[in-house]
Amino acid sequence: MNVLLIGAGGREHALAYTLRKSPSLNRFFVAPGNPGIERLAKSVILASGDHEAVIAFCRRQAIDFVVIGPEGPLVRGLVDALEEEGIAAFGPSEDAALLEGSKSFAKEVCKCFAVPTAAYAKFTDAESAKAYVREQGAPIVVKADGLASGKGVVVAESAAEAEAAIESMFGGQFGEAGETVVIEEKLIGEEVSFFALCDGTRALPLGSAQDYKRLGDGDTGPNTGGMGAISPSPLMDEALTARVMKEIIEPVVAGMAELNRPFVGVLYAGLMLTADGPKVLEFNVRFGDPEAQALLPQLQTDLLPLFKACSDENMPMDPVKLSGKKAVTVVMAAPGYPLDPQLGSEIKGLDAVEDMPGIIVTQAGTKKDGKRLLADGGRVLSVTGIGADLAEAREKAYAAVAAIDWPEAVYRKDIGAGKA
Ligand code: AMP
Ligand code: GLY
Repeated sequence: MNVLLIGAGGREHALAYTLRKSPSLNRFFVAPGNPGIERLAKSVILASGDHEAVIAFCRRQAIDFVVIGPEGPLVRGLVDALEEEGIAAFGPSEDAALLEGSKSFAKEVCKCFAVPTAAYAKFTDAESAKAYVREQGAPIVVKADGLASGKGVVVAESAAEAEAAIESMFGGQFGEAGETVVIEEKLIGEEVSFFALCDGTRALPLGSAQDYKRLGDGDTGPNTGGMGAISPSPLMDEALTARVMKEIIEPVVAGMAELNRPFVGVLYAGLMLTADGPKVLEFNVRFGDPEAQALLPQLQTDLLPLFKACSDENMPMDPVKLSGKKAVTVVMAAPGYPLDPQLGSEIKGLDAVEDMPGIIVTQAGTKKDGKRLLADGGRVLSVTGIGADLAEAREKAYAAVAAIDWPEAVYRKDIGAGKA
């Protein structure tokens, strides 16, 4: 298969490593990619929003299959545009990507198909939203309806905090994404990210992860795109996987088919394990970043033909094989991330680290300056250690982080710490 991968982050670098291993892969392109991915796939400059340009490229290069990493192009209908032209693509249609693109839509789907989630109400004006908050009391959770790069959620401990969040969302903080606001009950428990592969009518569990959203050790500081991940989640076992498939994933897949929005691709359920069982916090319609960097290296099944079978709505239902090992991924970010990342510091010593056994380094915000590699974004590298247990995976990951010569880097020291 000739494959075009869309995206430029650590998740796409991890996808590129995985696709590269497939005996079915023939020619391999990435748009736009990054200096790390360019060693695995030929980089091309294409704006994913320019559907005609992507289609023209696919025609010229006889691309058989397009794999889309990030949510943006999915929500904007890239899969629909490609499929209309007879080009197969991995990921949901625009109609199905609404599960991530609109939190109120996701809540309606949960309600309609009896999928457990927090009680909620949705609002299109600040006054009624604030009245609801006063009626319900705190703690309470305020969410911008649309895509906000993981920043559109405020878990408010007081009504005043919730009202301030409502004001700023309706005040345009997230643009159109905040024109509708969802307000929901605060759930108590531990969080798990769960991934399933879906072909429109059926679903297969892929695995689980736990991500570390806050910047600082001990879950302190601002929310980020993700500072690390461990996979699988130590909280998941076979019984819980079966329960999540039965109570959450399968009803959503069946429900989306019933709504004439069949879901094809990776369904990522952000779950809270509450005293009443697992409940949905959110859905994403793609792999997580950095969860993919921890999860993908453990999948032993050849994923390229499996992704293609999903897109053909004909997925084989054999269980996906996992290595049985554990992974710890540490994100190295530029100083000042997430508010004001300082770009341009030099990263040295990556080649030696990439040769360390059980280590995979993926790049995100990097750029080449001649032979030098420079930080060029917020999240810059992710370093994954793989071991027989979490302690070993963690030791490997942090030994590799220490061996990277980039003194300006900011990273958490506690990824995977204190977990069995
Ligand atoms: P989301 O983007 O909807 O997953 O929200 C981001 C983060 O906010 C989640 O990972 C949770 O830590 C937190 N969160 C979201 N919804 C709730 C809720 N209903 N109760 C408690 N925490 C929540
Ligand atoms: N790490 C969270 C996400 O990818 O949405």
